[in-house]
Amino acid sequence: MKGISKGQLIVVSNREPYSLKKGKLEKSVGGLVSAMDPVMQEMKGVWIAAGSAPEGREPSREAMRFMVPPENPSYTVRLVPLTPKDIEGYYNGYSNRFLWPLCHIALERIYLRRFYWHSYKKVNELFARAVVEEAKKDAVVWLQDYHLALCAKYIRELKPKARTSIFWHIPWPPHDVFRACPQRKELLEGMLANDLIGFQLDSFGLNFLRCVGRELGARPNFAKRTVTYRGTTTRVKAFPISVDFDWFESAALEKKAEGFIRRFRRDKALEGLKVGLTVERLDYTKGVIKCLEAVEFFFAKYPRFKRNFTLVMVAVPTRKVEPYLSYMERVREKVDSVNKKFSQKGWRPVEYIDRRLSHNELAALYRDADLAVISSIYDGMNLVAKEYVASQVDLKGSLLVSEFAGSSQEIPGAISINPYDTEGCADAIKNALEMKPERRKEQMERARWHIREKNIYRWVDEVLGELKTIR
Ligand code: UDP
Ligand code: G6P
Repeated sequence: MKGISKGQLIVVSNREPYSLKKGKLEKSVGGLVSAMDPVMQEMKGVWIAAGSAPEGREPSREAMRFMVPPENPSYTVRLVPLTPKDIEGYYNGYSNRFLWPLCHIALERIYLRRFYWHSYKKVNELFARAVVEEAKKDAVVWLQDYHLALCAKYIRELKPKARTSIFWHIPWPPHDVFRACPQRKELLEGMLANDLIGFQLDSFGLNFLRCVGRELGARPNFAKRTVTYRGTTTRVKAFPISVDFDWFESAALEKKAEGFIRRFRRDKALEGLKVGLTVERLDYTKGVIKCLEAVEFFFAKYPRFKRNFTLVMVAVPTRKVEPYLSYMERVREKVDSVNKKFSQKGWRPVEYIDRRLSHNELAALYRDADLAVISSIYDGMNLVAKEYVASQVDLKGSLLVSEFAGSSQEIPGAISINPYDTEGCADAIKNALEMKPERRKEQMERARWHIREKNIYRWVDEVLGELKTIR
């Protein structure tokens, strides 16, 4: 990685990369941590995140700073302690009940209170103070995601020469949607305090530039993808995030992956069956219910697949508050009803797993699955799609990706599906299962070639390299 050959890298995100669960440091679930953890292991920087002191310890400065990962300590985590009220207002509130549905164009799910916004501002400022405490002279500050839209502005107030960039992991909506945000001017101004803003797709960057033009009266330069506002120029560019291809490939090839699969198939009574796989955080944007409807339609339309095919659905809850709790209930009910409708002795159409699996376990499942389904109704990128491709060392599987996920535009060889078209998705599953092996192999080879090249390290080089050219 050449990104910043010299200098200190400070990554800032809401979610901590590792947290203590039952006395053990466990890696967090979600695209942001999956992508940034291998990067930080290489670059040995400081990762600042919200969190409380490890169990039983006073939140002293030492308790709030520790090295990870546990098996090979290589970078520092610095926690920013938040009160329950901060978490309610800034994280559950403004970030997850407002910005998340706004950016995923799920406007009917928006719930906003003034207190959320006040709390969001306060916590962004707390993060900025932690950054300034940690930052050495040569530091590059890399903010992550929608929890931190205002952070650069506060950093700049404290340290005017700081170099900062934000990567927005989720979509940026068109102006017609964004104007539902009452704090839209302040949010945009906060973002423009960065030297560089990264989005997953160019279309999100263009949406952002149009919002800036309409709301702040600034004149974006669409050709150069820059905007100058109050004397500061910000570059806005697309950097599609990726995965550690080599890691997933090696993990899938390990002997213990083969052992895991043998046991998994035996324990779940999947021996001899074709297996489809979905893996996600349990989130309404992932189209989990739409996927189950498609599977239901598939078995009704193509009954010959009963006892021949099972969908393994890994859906891990991380945000354990409303509306996620109700969504989880609906997903469970749907799984039960599909299973009740079609199950036969010794066979179930859907195998539902709601516990977090490690990346080693996932690499094994990805290698083994005959197809993977990504049914997001809207998704910035979706790393699971890329992890599946990287682990497909036998070239035997097909990747079905929603056309509303960034990865569908990016991965050659992926089969595009529309999650709103239930019958179309059911047909796509059937076609993938009946596809000639040579065609499947050819599609998977193309996908693998692309992701091997455009891997997570290349992504970091591109973002940090771009930042270097700015100042
Ligand atoms: N993940 C995991 N264990 C699980 C389920 C998911 O480690 O049991 C990881 C998965 O491997 C992927 C991330 O969570 O790296 C999900 O990222 P994605 O971009 O697909 O969606 P996001 O959660 O960021 O919206
Ligand atoms: C998405 C977001 C990340 C977030 C992750 C998990 O990937 O872009 O910022 O960390 O989901 O969500 P959580 O709220 O559990 O951190």
